[in-house]
Amino acid sequence: MSAKTTNPKTTTATVTPHKIHEVVKYPDPVLAKPSEKVTEFTPELAEFVEEMFETMYAAQGIGLAAPQIAVSKQITVIDVSFKERPEDKIVLINPEIIDRTGKQIEEEGCLSLPDIREKVARASWVKVRAQNVKGEFFEVEGEELLSRALQHEIDHLHGILFLDHLSLLKRDLVKRRIKKLQKNGEW
Ligand code: NI
Repeated sequence: MSAKTTNPKTTTATVTPHKIHEVVKYPDPVLAKPSEKVTEFTPELAEFVEEMFETMYAAQGIGLAAPQIAVSKQITVIDVSFKERPEDKIVLINPEIIDRTGKQIEEEGCLSLPDIREKVARASWVKVRAQNVKGEFFEVEGEELLSRALQHEIDHLHGILFLDHLSLLKRDLVKRRIKKLQKNGEW
């Protein structure tokens, strides 16, 4: 998910020890494919998760799913505070929404759909069960923005984009807008 501000924070050119990946854009087929479960919890997985955070921050995002960097695995990272609160950093491996309630309709963006923002209906609260980088199970609950981020990122792991939640008419308009941008070499 992309940050709410369209004005990216200016970041200083610090050297990061973690690799920054390229974020793939719609309509790359990897984004439409359900991801595979993670079965091995190795040091390489922990490093990959750090790379995902670095990639997300570099792209000014508050959430990133592995398929967005062309890795079709059930891994996603979220930080709705964008580096402000370390406790907001969430790593979800093989996540599952186990409970949800309420409804919210808010604007959403996605790093794989740059500059496209549309209102999306989501549950206002969700509870998620997932594994951490060590393979330990845990639960996390979120409301408002965090609830949206959890649903948005977990959708990615099932090959679902926020576009898929729009009405046919709206989705068509967005797709036409993207085609136009592609034609002009702006996508
Ligand atoms: Ni997204």
